[in-house]
Amino acid sequence: MVALGALAASLLAACGGPPETTLPTEPVVELSPQEQQGKRLFSQYCGACHSIVGEATIVGPAMTGIAVRAETRIEGMSAHDYLVESILDPGAYLVPGFDNLMPSTWGTTLTGEEMDAIIAFMLTLK
Ligand code: HEC
Repeated sequence: MVALGALAASLLAACGGPPETTLPTEPVVELSPQEQQGKRLFSQYCGACHSIVGEATIVGPAMTGIAVRAETRIEGMSAHDYLVESILDPGAYLVPGFDNLMPSTWGTTLTGEEMDAIIAFMLTLK
């Protein structure tokens, strides 16, 4: 169950005036409730290793533009299917320059609903 009040409050807060620094900021994209849930789950489970703003590498590659890049990773594989495979079986395709350091336990940690939400969110990162 999504706390709509809190969600609306954070949306309002996110629109509070012009950015004060020149650091990369998140593009303002309207997210559906499912995508919002995915964003929350992403920062909870994935944010320690993956930035969603700018190009900074933490442990894994930044997710900026992943919705577009995912389509190009494996010939003939859709962005959606590539993301599913990358999350459930990270070692199946290693992003060039990265080691196989991503946990491969998400299939048991996350519910199907949570997986869908995370993927829906990632597909907004164009
Ligand atoms: C302990 C660090 C770590 C965590 C936590 C982690 N990842 Fe990763 N991830 C990596 C690394 C390292 C790579 C690059 C190697 C590879 O391709 O598996 C990667 C690669 C990826 C890729 C492929 C990116 C591309 O450009 O093709 C996706 C998608 C991804 N991770 C999604 C996730 C999601 C979603 C979560 C949370 C459910 C997550 N990761 C959690 C370390 C992590």
